[in-house]
Amino acid sequence: MKGKAKLEPKKEIEEQKKYIEKVEEINKKEAPKYSILTMGCQQNENDSEKICGMIEQMGYEKATNQEEIDLAVINTCCVRENAEDRLFGKLGELKKLKEKRGTIVAIGGCMMQEKHITKKIKESYPFVDLIFGTHTLHRFPEDLFKVLEEKNKLTDILDIDGKVYEGLPIKRESKVKASVTIMNGCNNFCSYCIVPYVRGRERSRAPKDIILEVEDLAKQGYKEITLLGQNVNSYLRVERENNIPFEEYQGVHSFATLLEAINKIEGIERIRFVSPHPKDFTDDVIEAIANCKKVCKLVHLPLQAGSTKILKSMNRKYTKEDYLNLVQKMKNKIPNLTLSTDIIVGFPGETEEDLEETLDVVKKVKFEQVYMFIYSRRVGTPGDKMENQIPEEIKHKHFNRLKELVESQISENNQKYVGTIQEVLVEGVSKNNKNTLTGRTDSNKVVIFEGNINELINKVVKIKIVSEHMWYLKGEVVNG
Ligand code: SAH
Ligand code: SF4
Ligand code: F3S
Repeated sequence: MKGKAKLEPKKEIEEQKKYIEKVEEINKKEAPKYSILTMGCQQNENDSEKICGMIEQMGYEKATNQEEIDLAVINTCCVRENAEDRLFGKLGELKKLKEKRGTIVAIGGCMMQEKHITKKIKESYPFVDLIFGTHTLHRFPEDLFKVLEEKNKLTDILDIDGKVYEGLPIKRESKVKASVTIMNGCNNFCSYCIVPYVRGRERSRAPKDIILEVEDLAKQGYKEITLLGQNVNSYLRVERENNIPFEEYQGVHSFATLLEAINKIEGIERIRFVSPHPKDFTDDVIEAIANCKKVCKLVHLPLQAGSTKILKSMNRKYTKEDYLNLVQKMKNKIPNLTLSTDIIVGFPGETEEDLEETLDVVKKVKFEQVYMFIYSRRVGTPGDKMENQIPEEIKHKHFNRLKELVESQISENNQKYVGTIQEVLVEGVSKNNKNTLTGRTDSNKVVIFEGNINELINKVVKIKIVSEHMWYLKGEVVNG
């Protein structure tokens, strides 16, 4: 079956709730077990939380070991090539499980929006039961019901942009921190990037739906909210520019006003957002960050490259100077601002000199954290058609030079924390040492310390930092 847009969002969700009940009825006797593998970004993780919400309402329980899985879901990413190798490796494993116990295999997410991938799955992995895309996630209950009832293979993909669906159940990973998607899609078409092709055009959620969701999270005890979108600072821009009507709620009509409204919600202590685009970083957003106490003063500001020539061919729409000026302006207006970033090395045409420009920005800005990527050719993007591709060994050489610089900066940067008192949101017991607790600073640094979990969990606590260890800081609770 090929998917097609059928109903208006509200009706569609009502319809899906009926399918949830139908599958629940099938599962009534004994709760089957499910697993989910999430391969992508925070938005992909948030989608997985929605998939889990639907699955658990349909009567499934999370599997505790591989052997008992009745439904295996993979939520894919395709932003870089390694994701494909990982998926096909995983499918090899699931094939054995399918043969052994008839496990239902469902694959969704961004990679499923790529035709050459779904074609390959159908040809080489015919045991896969259900393929669904980014625009049809909300139809998972109906699709799963059909697979269970009709025992057919199903592909439910939409090539056109999906609508904004509200009211899906959600099973959140954490009880302290919650992600809230504020917009879907991307209109920027950076020339290396597949996201606009697999997530469709930008469309924002209504202010009221976002505010009500955050208010509800606050009531449930959540302390930290991360607002998600591929380009969060263009929230509602398409609507404003094209006179598409939308309903203002609590004065929200832009990203800056959204931050201000969420800042007022009682119970929420921290607000983060990923990712903004430097070209859309307007003054009202800078002011909102400065004025809103709860908005963390760590801003993720993707650089991608430091060379103006490369930025131009990446279609980023800013120069090296624009970026540095923006950083300066932000630092002037936002006290204690720290920055993190994304950088790609090895984009077509990148020379030694271009790399030097990137290293120069890294030296000047002194990022809190740098997420580094080796350029990966993506089918269908302008970058893939460029003739001056860089050989793999040069890409790796460039990567290692950047990595060296970044790592030397991290330990230097960590030093500045030692001896300071930080406000830490306590998240739980640390994974590697059950006798210690873990939490994060406003600037998102992991802090490990001793304390009583029952007293401190989900609270913002003052911690004195005593030492730094590259990827985390050690501290002591400050009493009184
Ligand atoms: N919309 C966000 C995130 C996009 S994907 C943003 O603009 O910041 C996350 C990161 O993956 C990007 O910031 C970029 O650094 C990296 N990335 C995207 N496409 C890539 C590619 N083809 N090769 C390597 N890295 C890529
Ligand atoms: Fe990709 Fe650029 Fe859109 Fe980010 S802004 S999702 S990097 S096209
Ligand atoms: Fe990957 Fe899709 Fe996110 S391609 S990075 S999961 S938007």
